[in-house]
Amino acid sequence: MRYTAGRMQSATLRAFLALDFDAEGQATLAKYLCDLRAAPWAAQVRWVSMENLHLTLRFLGDITPAQATQYADALRSGLSRIDNLGVLRLRVSGPRFFPSAARPRAIACLTDAHPTLDALAALAESCAVGIGLPEDPRPFRGHITLGRLRDGRAHGVLSEIPGAWLHSATITLYRSQLHPRGPTYSALAKFSLGSQL
Ligand code: 2AM
Repeated sequence: MRYTAGRMQSATLRAFLALDFDAEGQATLAKYLCDLRAAPWAAQVRWVSMENLHLTLRFLGDITPAQATQYADALRSGLSRIDNLGVLRLRVSGPRFFPSAARPRAIACLTDAHPTLDALAALAESCAVGIGLPEDPRPFRGHITLGRLRDGRAHGVLSEIPGAWLHSATITLYRSQLHPRGPTYSALAKFSLGSQL
């Protein structure tokens, strides 16, 4: 807690909402990572650690604990209103430069269009606006980041790696803590896409 001009301000936390993948999906993504890390240019990329692989639905940035609670409550009630919610079966591309080969920032697997994924991203966005965050002007582009290019340039060539099917049964509101050796994520709240937790 911090005290400013007589008013108590809660410490903030850095948060984001993401889809998690089942063990098989994690293994598929881990295999992509292992193969890519063997490339001669692999040192030019900050690779995501295996336990941190996820698909971000909405980055919230720094919010107060009260906002995190409000967000989780709104999301839970929004999820209960989405019809036919269940385990998501997503088709993803093999690793590609993202957002484009011309101006790459990361290496990621991109999702094919999926109406439920879009509905979840729209809900994640409306709940963010509901807790007072500004609207995200960028359209949602589902992707799973495997690594971030250290200098924003494409090194080497990404050969055509086949895509895969991934399954997700949970969404997690994560807290992200930044450290020199990379972020650590911890779950603030979990939501099941099958039966609500
Ligand atoms: P990215 O994978 O495309 O980099 C945690 O940092 C997650 O939030 C990442 O998946 C990241 O997306 C996403 N994110 C979106 N906007 C962000 C921002 N401005 N700063 C940090 N992470 C952001």
